[in-house]
Amino acid sequence: MHPTETLLSPLTLRCGATLKNRIALAPLTNQQSHEDGRLSDDEFNFLARRAACGFGLVETCASHITRTGKGFSGQLGVYSDDLLPGLGRLAGEIASHGAAGLVQLYHGGVRSPSKLTGVQPVSASAFTEDHPKFEQPRALGEDEIHDIIAAFVAAAKRSQAAGFAGVELHGAHGYLLSQFLSRTMNTRKDQWGGTFEGRARLLREVTRAVRRQTKPDFIVAVRISPEDFGYAHGLDLDESLQLAEWLAEDGIDLLHLSLWDVRKNTAKRPQEHPLPLFRLRLDNAVKIVVAGKIWTGADAAQVLERGADVVSLGRAAILNPDWPRKFAANKAFEPVRGPLTPAEFGLRAVSPTFVDYLRRFRLVAD
Ligand SMILES: Cc1cc2nc3c(=O)[nH]c(=O)nc-3n(C[C@H](O)[C@H](O)[C@H](O)COP(=O)(O)O)c2cc1C
Repeated sequence: MHPTETLLSPLTLRCGATLKNRIALAPLTNQQSHEDGRLSDDEFNFLARRAACGFGLVETCASHITRTGKGFSGQLGVYSDDLLPGLGRLAGEIASHGAAGLVQLYHGGVRSPSKLTGVQPVSASAFTEDHPKFEQPRALGEDEIHDIIAAFVAAAKRSQAAGFAGVELHGAHGYLLSQFLSRTMNTRKDQWGGTFEGRARLLREVTRAVRRQTKPDFIVAVRISPEDFGYAHGLDLDESLQLAEWLAEDGIDLLHLSLWDVRKNTAKRPQEHPLPLFRLRLDNAVKIVVAGKIWTGADAAQVLERGADVVSLGRAAILNPDWPRKFAANKAFEPVRGPLTPAEFGLRAVSPTFVDYLRRFRLVAD
């Protein structure tokens, strides 16, 4: 099958769930929900439109698993049963279009500012960084780490109760799980730090506990940053490859690689592209999702050829909610790349609040 045909074909995951195609909506923070984490109509409409337009996998934004793990204003929450009505409405809508809905579960760690949470940020260790808004975190205690694992599991079970097809554990982009993986942010000397085995322990414990405590066909995905990028630092390609193998043993269905630019080779080995490296290390039963400047069908086909199984669209999907439908009708369709005016965003179910956030990505024309 030509890769452009493969994109539209179903994919059965090792848990038994089937994606109707291999086109995913990337997790996208959009700040459109209520301050207490309740789903708003704006966030519902943004995701519902994309589910209706043919995305086979639809991920929510990073959603906080504890009240104090929140990192952005207007973020969807999954930390309490009080949030179930909105989560259930969203899950039902996504499923009604035949898409698999995943909640992206996260805790911001050092990136949960006290002005949002009212408490000092926590992390693996009490490190400092040299930028003006940096708030020094305090290191989590042993009992608190167990509480965090329990909160991830509770949030996964809540997502399941709401009717979602699965969850994605956000181990990328320098949030709490990624802070534990990092050799610069995690300088602990106990079992949760030190060697890479220790630094990977939190993510692995959460993964195993979520796998064990959800139903067998519930999708468990993990997103990682394979190498340093932006807030994610202290990472190493070979450690990330080792992590992929461990996560496969721990029962994940999907490994989501956040690459930011799928055309780039690895920083550590500039002759090598990350996709074949991860594909070689992973049992074929574990499928690879990849994101990073995938705009056209040709971009998508190229990453499938390099070893990915599912393409994850961020900016292309914000600007082109009907990407899967348009692609199905015409494999050579040229997506809009922006910038767009707020009114044009409005037509794409992107509210003025989200438009404001998109300014930092230079997607808005005024
Ligand atoms: C507005 C915006 C919000 C994002 N929010 C999240 C998020 O909540 N969780 C996450 O893992 N990645 C997030 N990302 C990263 C995207 O999921 C994606 O990996 C990245 O944008 C690269 O894909 P793209 O080039 O197709 O946009 C965000 C990106 C953008 C542009």
